[in-house]
Amino acid sequence: MYLMPKIFSDKGYIDGITVIDTEGEILFTAKLNKKLNEVRDNDKEVVGRKLFDIYKNLNHENSTMFKAMELGSPLYVENQTLEFGSGQETEITSLSIPIKSKDRIVGCIDLSVSEGVSEECVEVIKLDSKIFEEIDIEKLSKSKTSAKYCIEHIIGVDSTMLEAKKYIKVAAQCDLAVMIYGETGTGKELFAQAIHNASKRKDRPFIAQNCAAIPEGLMEGMLFGTVKGSFTGAVDSPGLLEMAEGGTIFFDEINSMPLTLQAKLLRVIQDREYRAVGGSEMKKLDVKIISAINKKPSKALADGNIRSDLYYRLSQLNIEIPPLKDRKEDIPLFINYYVAKYNGIFGKNIKYISRKFYEKTIEHDWPGNVREIENTVVQAMSSMDSSREILELEDIEKRISGDNDPVNISIIDKSLREIIEEYEKGIIQNIMEMCDYNISKAAKVMQIPRQTLQRKAKNFEII
Ligand SMILES: Nc1ncnc2c1ncn2[C@@H]1O[C@H](COP(=O)(O)OP(=O)(O)OP(=O)(O)O)[C@@H](O)[C@H]1O
Ligand SMILES: [Mg+2]
Repeated sequence: MYLMPKIFSDKGYIDGITVIDTEGEILFTAKLNKKLNEVRDNDKEVVGRKLFDIYKNLNHENSTMFKAMELGSPLYVENQTLEFGSGQETEITSLSIPIKSKDRIVGCIDLSVSEGVSEECVEVIKLDSKIFEEIDIEKLSKSKTSAKYCIEHIIGVDSTMLEAKKYIKVAAQCDLAVMIYGETGTGKELFAQAIHNASKRKDRPFIAQNCAAIPEGLMEGMLFGTVKGSFTGAVDSPGLLEMAEGGTIFFDEINSMPLTLQAKLLRVIQDREYRAVGGSEMKKLDVKIISAINKKPSKALADGNIRSDLYYRLSQLNIEIPPLKDRKEDIPLFINYYVAKYNGIFGKNIKYISRKFYEKTIEHDWPGNVREIENTVVQAMSSMDSSREILELEDIEKRISGDNDPVNISIIDKSLREIIEEYEKGIIQNIMEMCDYNISKAAKVMQIPRQTLQRKAKNFEII
């Protein structure tokens, strides 16, 4: 159970509510505090806009709402500065809670209390279900439309990972369908995005759709589109295949797609054309198809979760991403990467990890793979004093035995530029240490030119 952080129970009220979808589009906002109204735009103008367009100093890395969605758990952050387009700033304490629908994170709700606002200007509101009626849940379930990751973002020195990374280029150079197999959190979506971004389709849409997230009845219309009047309530709506035209469609958890729809999809792939539900016009299929499966393909086939004819069509090229327990040498890389990242973001100063900590991370099987490592590092570092320099076993022991305490992250009072520089410095420092200050080796791990690393390391006074 998640306990309400003390500030909320002490004050007994909140000043604002914001709901976003996974793309950062604001779906609902309520400012319950007149003072906040003065510094922020009008509610109506905010809904439909992107969070980062409203708050100039927020980005994917420091937004607690994005972090909560990424981690799949609530995040409580004190004294976060928000900078509006007008240049005005306010300091808030907020609790960001991811919203799940059918086991998939579809958005985030943020409850905030602003600092230094007198209590008289707070309007008391009842948090009744009406607020939630205004949230467009369908919009929340919509698919992703762009890919942010490239090959350079993929960490891994294990030989199978190096091979898999090389294969991304092969998969990107042609239009053959790609099937990615890997356990949860191994980076299937990351690979799919990297293939798209390495292909000639990179400037066209990347549409990701989790096949387990949509009710069976809606899926066909969602995939192929619908034509107004074809059934009660039907409207003219483009399907995902049309939205992805010229780009890539990523079918995540393809083994959860209903078998009847699998048969229809197979026909469309074979004919390279399709019709919207209730429509007569034939549309050309011009998308690269990448699918992911989180169960061994032989098992999914034997269990009848995926039609074999469709499976062979979708797996013209195959990429298997091994679980972390089978590529232990990548574990320290991820630990270093995430420690450096959160040093920068949260203003911590971890420079070393203890031997016991290191041994435990190697010994642990990480069933949640890379996502579990990131989660563990965030939870360990978030509640830590910023004077601490060593990450100890005790900091993660509770985490990796499965306990899930509420988080308490203190964001520091630094400019974005300083945070980014610190973050970069942290990464370079850690990787240089790991590589015994051998610049060529470290540059290879970071996949940047040797000269670039040398210049950066000098500037940061690492060498
Ligand atoms: N090799 C990697 N290098 C860098 N980051 C990684 C790597 N593998 C995974 N990650 C990170 O781990 C997280 C989980 O990755 P991703 O969502 O791609 O996994 P997934 O296989 O699609 O998981 P699921 O089956 O649960 O959907 C993401 O934050 C991703 O950026
Ligand atoms: Mg995924």
